[in-house]
Amino acid sequence: MFMPQLMKKAETGEKLAALTCYDASYARILLRAGVDILLVGDSLGMTIQGHDTTLPVTLDQMVYHTTAVRRGAGNAFIMADLPFGSYQQGPGQAFASAAQLLAAGANMVKLEGGAVMVETVEFLIRRGIPVCAHLGLLPQSVNRTGYRAQARDDKAALQLIEDAANLEQAGAELLVLESIPALLAAEVTNSLSIPTIGIGAGLHCDGQVLVLNDILGLTEKPPRFARNFMLGATAIEDAARRYVAAVKAGEFPAAEHAF
Ligand code: KIV
Repeated sequence: MFMPQLMKKAETGEKLAALTCYDASYARILLRAGVDILLVGDSLGMTIQGHDTTLPVTLDQMVYHTTAVRRGAGNAFIMADLPFGSYQQGPGQAFASAAQLLAAGANMVKLEGGAVMVETVEFLIRRGIPVCAHLGLLPQSVNRTGYRAQARDDKAALQLIEDAANLEQAGAELLVLESIPALLAAEVTNSLSIPTIGIGAGLHCDGQVLVLNDILGLTEKPPRFARNFMLGATAIEDAARRYVAAVKAGEFPAAEHAF
Protein backbone atom coordinates (compact mmCIF):
# COMPACT_ATOMS: atom_id res chain seq x y z
CA MET A 1 0.00 0.00 0.00
CA PHE A 2 1.27 3.46 -0.80
CA MET A 3 0.48 6.89 0.66
CA PRO A 4 -2.52 7.65 -1.59
CA GLN A 5 -4.36 4.46 -0.52
CA LEU A 6 -3.72 5.22 3.15
CA MET A 7 -4.93 8.79 2.69
CA LYS A 8 -8.08 7.55 0.98
CA LYS A 9 -8.83 5.42 4.02
CA ALA A 10 -8.28 8.41 6.32
CA GLU A 11 -10.51 10.61 4.16
CA THR A 12 -13.49 8.31 4.73
CA GLY A 13 -13.36 9.39 8.37
CA GLU A 14 -12.42 5.88 9.49
CA LYS A 15 -9.98 6.08 12.41
CA LEU A 16 -6.53 4.71 11.59
CA ALA A 17 -5.27 1.94 13.88
CA ALA A 18 -1.47 1.70 14.11
CA LEU A 19 0.76 -0.53 16.21
CA THR A 20 4.48 -0.92 16.50
CA CYS A 21 5.85 -4.07 14.89
CA TYR A 22 9.38 -5.40 14.92
CA ASP A 23 9.39 -8.71 13.03
CA ALA A 24 7.76 -10.78 10.29
CA SER A 25 5.63 -13.06 12.49
CA TYR A 26 3.95 -10.18 14.28
CA ALA A 27 3.51 -8.34 10.98
CA ARG A 28 1.41 -11.26 9.68
CA ILE A 29 -0.65 -11.42 12.88
CA LEU A 30 -1.28 -7.67 13.07
CA LEU A 31 -2.34 -7.48 9.44
CA ARG A 32 -4.80 -10.35 9.90
CA ALA A 33 -6.17 -8.34 12.85
CA GLY A 34 -6.81 -5.31 10.61
CA VAL A 35 -4.04 -2.94 11.70
CA ASP A 36 -3.71 -0.11 9.14
CA ILE A 37 -0.12 1.02 9.81
CA LEU A 38 2.80 -1.08 11.07
CA LEU A 39 5.28 1.22 12.79
CA VAL A 40 8.80 -0.13 13.01
CA GLY A 41 9.38 2.07 16.03
CA ASP A 42 12.70 2.83 17.64
CA SER A 43 10.86 1.77 20.81
CA LEU A 44 12.47 -1.55 19.84
CA GLY A 45 15.45 -0.24 21.80
CA MET A 46 13.35 -0.83 24.89
CA THR A 47 10.96 -3.64 23.91
CA ILE A 48 13.44 -5.86 22.05
CA GLN A 49 16.86 -4.74 23.24
CA GLY A 50 16.11 -3.95 26.88
CA HIS A 51 17.52 -0.42 26.98
CA ASP A 52 15.94 2.31 29.12
CA THR A 53 15.60 4.68 26.16
CA THR A 54 15.44 4.66 22.36
CA LEU A 55 18.75 6.50 22.09
CA PRO A 56 21.12 3.55 21.48
CA VAL A 57 19.15 2.26 18.46
CA THR A 58 21.18 2.43 15.25
CA LEU A 59 20.14 2.93 11.65
CA ASP A 60 21.46 -0.55 10.78
CA GLN A 61 19.18 -2.05 13.43
CA MET A 62 16.19 -0.12 12.10
CA VAL A 63 17.01 -1.37 8.59
CA TYR A 64 17.23 -4.96 9.87
CA HIS A 65 13.83 -4.82 11.60
CA THR A 66 12.18 -2.98 8.71
CA THR A 67 13.40 -5.69 6.33
CA ALA A 68 11.97 -8.38 8.61
CA VAL A 69 8.62 -6.62 8.98
CA ARG A 70 8.38 -6.14 5.21
CA ARG A 71 8.89 -9.88 4.66
CA GLY A 72 5.82 -10.60 6.80
CA ALA A 73 3.78 -7.63 5.66
CA GLY A 74 3.24 -8.25 1.95
CA ASN A 75 2.33 -4.87 0.51
CA ALA A 76 0.88 -3.41 3.74
CA PHE A 77 1.78 0.11 4.86
CA ILE A 78 4.97 0.34 6.91
CA MET A 79 6.29 3.42 8.65
CA ALA A 80 9.81 3.31 10.10
CA ASP A 81 11.45 5.57 12.66
CA LEU A 82 14.60 7.45 11.81
CA PRO A 83 16.65 6.66 14.92
CA PHE A 84 18.50 9.18 17.09
CA GLY A 85 21.57 10.59 15.39
CA SER A 86 20.57 9.51 11.87
CA TYR A 87 18.89 12.76 10.77
CA GLN A 88 19.49 15.62 13.21
CA GLN A 89 22.60 16.90 11.37
CA GLY A 90 20.49 18.16 8.50
CA PRO A 91 18.54 17.33 5.34
CA GLY A 92 21.42 15.54 3.55
CA GLN A 93 22.01 13.13 6.43
CA ALA A 94 18.25 12.61 6.81
CA PHE A 95 17.89 11.78 3.12
CA ALA A 96 20.72 9.22 3.21
CA SER A 97 19.20 7.53 6.28
CA ALA A 98 15.62 7.63 5.01
CA ALA A 99 16.74 6.13 1.69
CA GLN A 100 18.08 3.10 3.58
CA LEU A 101 14.76 2.63 5.38
CA LEU A 102 12.80 2.91 2.13
CA ALA A 103 15.14 0.42 0.45
CA ALA A 104 14.48 -1.93 3.38
CA GLY A 105 10.75 -1.74 2.71
CA ALA A 106 9.36 1.27 4.57
CA ASN A 107 6.68 3.37 2.85
CA MET A 108 7.21 6.36 5.12
CA VAL A 109 9.71 7.58 7.68
CA LYS A 110 8.97 9.24 11.01
CA LEU A 111 11.12 11.87 12.66
CA GLU A 112 10.83 13.78 15.92
CA GLY A 113 10.82 17.54 16.32
CA GLY A 114 9.10 20.81 15.49
CA ALA A 115 10.56 23.99 13.96
CA VAL A 116 14.04 22.50 13.73
CA MET A 117 12.75 19.73 11.41
CA VAL A 118 10.76 21.86 8.95
CA GLU A 119 13.60 22.24 6.43
CA THR A 120 14.39 18.51 6.61
CA VAL A 121 10.76 17.51 6.09
CA GLU A 122 10.53 19.72 3.00
CA PHE A 123 13.80 18.32 1.63
CA LEU A 124 12.64 14.70 2.03
CA ILE A 125 9.15 15.28 0.65
CA ARG A 126 10.49 17.02 -2.46
CA ARG A 127 12.67 13.97 -3.08
CA GLY A 128 9.79 11.50 -2.90
CA ILE A 129 10.02 10.37 0.72
CA PRO A 130 6.76 10.47 2.69
CA VAL A 131 7.30 11.87 6.18
CA CYS A 132 5.38 11.52 9.42
CA ALA A 133 6.29 14.23 11.92
CA HIS A 134 6.18 13.60 15.69
CA LEU A 135 5.38 16.30 18.28
CA GLY A 136 4.68 16.40 22.01
CA LEU A 137 6.72 13.97 24.07
CA LEU A 138 9.78 13.18 21.96
CA PRO A 139 11.43 10.02 23.31
CA GLN A 140 14.71 10.91 21.58
CA SER A 141 14.79 14.10 23.71
CA VAL A 142 14.25 12.26 26.98
CA ASN A 143 17.45 13.66 28.46
CA ARG A 144 15.92 17.14 28.22
CA THR A 145 12.31 16.41 29.13
CA GLY A 146 12.05 13.07 30.93
CA TYR A 147 9.02 10.89 30.11
CA ARG A 148 6.42 13.48 31.05
CA ALA A 149 3.35 14.82 29.29
CA GLN A 150 4.21 17.90 27.23
CA ALA A 151 2.63 21.21 26.14
CA ARG A 152 0.66 21.62 29.35
CA ASP A 153 1.01 25.41 29.56
CA ASP A 154 -0.26 28.03 27.10
CA LYS A 155 3.15 28.97 25.71
CA ALA A 156 4.12 25.37 24.91
CA ALA A 157 0.65 24.64 23.51
CA LEU A 158 0.86 27.63 21.14
CA GLN A 159 4.33 26.55 20.05
CA LEU A 160 3.05 23.04 19.30
CA ILE A 161 0.14 24.41 17.24
CA GLU A 162 2.56 26.58 15.25
CA ASP A 163 4.99 23.67 14.75
CA ALA A 164 2.19 21.42 13.51
CA ALA A 165 1.08 24.01 10.96
CA ASN A 166 4.64 24.55 9.74
CA LEU A 167 5.31 20.82 9.41
CA GLU A 168 2.11 20.37 7.41
CA GLN A 169 3.10 23.31 5.23
CA ALA A 170 6.52 21.68 4.68
CA GLY A 171 4.76 18.58 3.36
CA ALA A 172 4.46 16.18 6.32
CA GLU A 173 1.62 13.77 5.52
CA LEU A 174 0.94 12.37 9.00
CA LEU A 175 1.53 13.76 12.47
CA VAL A 176 2.04 11.68 15.63
CA LEU A 177 1.03 13.53 18.79
CA GLU A 178 2.44 11.93 21.94
CA SER A 179 1.48 12.63 25.55
CA ILE A 180 -0.20 16.00 25.24
CA PRO A 181 -3.53 17.25 26.63
CA ALA A 182 -6.51 15.77 24.79
CA LEU A 183 -8.02 19.23 24.22
CA LEU A 184 -4.83 20.46 22.57
CA ALA A 185 -4.66 17.35 20.36
CA ALA A 186 -8.26 17.96 19.31
CA GLU A 187 -7.44 21.57 18.44
CA VAL A 188 -4.40 20.56 16.39
CA THR A 189 -6.38 17.82 14.64
CA ASN A 190 -9.12 20.30 13.69
CA SER A 191 -6.60 22.85 12.45
CA LEU A 192 -4.78 20.50 10.06
CA SER A 193 -5.83 18.75 6.89
CA ILE A 194 -3.34 15.87 7.39
CA PRO A 195 -4.32 13.03 9.77
CA THR A 196 -3.07 13.06 13.35
CA ILE A 197 -2.21 9.81 15.14
CA GLY A 198 -2.38 10.03 18.91
CA ILE A 199 -0.55 8.18 21.65
CA GLY A 200 -1.58 9.53 25.02
CA ALA A 201 -3.28 12.40 23.19
CA GLY A 202 -6.96 11.63 23.72
CA LEU A 203 -9.76 10.41 21.54
CA HIS A 204 -10.05 13.20 18.99
CA CYS A 205 -7.07 12.35 16.80
CA ASP A 206 -7.65 10.79 13.38
CA GLY A 207 -6.01 7.58 14.52
CA GLN A 208 -4.17 5.94 17.40
CA VAL A 209 -0.86 4.17 17.83
CA LEU A 210 0.42 2.07 20.73
CA VAL A 211 3.50 0.03 21.43
CA LEU A 212 2.73 -3.62 20.68
CA ASN A 213 4.25 -4.88 23.93
CA ASP A 214 1.97 -2.56 25.92
CA ILE A 215 -1.24 -3.93 24.37
CA LEU A 216 0.00 -7.49 24.92
CA GLY A 217 0.66 -6.95 28.63
CA LEU A 218 4.40 -7.54 28.21
CA THR A 219 5.56 -4.24 29.68
CA GLU A 220 6.49 -4.23 33.35
CA LYS A 221 5.40 -0.62 33.95
CA PRO A 222 3.16 0.32 31.03
CA PRO A 223 2.43 3.99 30.40
CA ARG A 224 -0.81 5.29 31.80
CA PHE A 225 -2.21 5.89 28.28
CA ALA A 226 -1.93 2.22 27.23
CA ARG A 227 -4.42 -0.63 27.70
CA ASN A 228 -3.68 -4.33 28.01
CA PHE A 229 -5.85 -5.88 25.28
CA MET A 230 -4.70 -9.41 26.18
CA LEU A 231 -7.04 -9.33 29.18
CA GLY A 232 -9.99 -11.48 28.10
CA ALA A 233 -8.43 -12.21 24.69
CA THR A 234 -7.93 -15.74 23.39
CA ALA A 235 -4.70 -15.07 21.46
CA ILE A 236 -2.38 -12.31 20.29
CA GLU A 237 -4.38 -11.86 17.09
CA ASP A 238 -7.56 -11.53 19.12
CA ALA A 239 -5.96 -8.86 21.34
CA ALA A 240 -4.83 -6.90 18.28
CA ARG A 241 -8.29 -7.27 16.74
CA ARG A 242 -9.85 -5.87 19.93
CA TYR A 243 -7.46 -2.93 19.83
CA VAL A 244 -8.35 -2.19 16.20
CA ALA A 245 -12.08 -2.48 16.93
CA ALA A 246 -11.81 -0.19 19.98
CA VAL A 247 -9.91 2.46 17.99
CA LYS A 248 -12.31 2.35 15.03
CA ALA A 249 -15.35 2.53 17.34
CA GLY A 250 -13.90 5.47 19.28
CA GLU A 251 -13.85 3.37 22.49
CA PHE A 252 -10.11 3.68 22.92
CA PRO A 253 -8.57 5.78 24.34
CA ALA A 254 -10.97 6.33 27.24
CA ALA A 255 -10.92 9.34 29.57
CA GLU A 256 -8.53 7.60 31.98
CA HIS A 257 -5.90 7.33 29.24
CA ALA A 258 -5.90 11.08 28.49
CA PHE A 259 -4.02 14.04 29.97
O1 KIV B 1 8.93 4.08 18.53
C1 KIV B 1 7.74 4.13 18.84
O2 KIV B 1 7.16 3.18 19.38
C2 KIV B 1 7.01 5.36 18.59
C3 KIV B 1 5.64 5.48 19.19
C4 KIV B 1 5.79 5.94 20.58
C5 KIV B 1 4.77 6.38 18.40
O3 KIV B 1 7.51 6.25 17.98
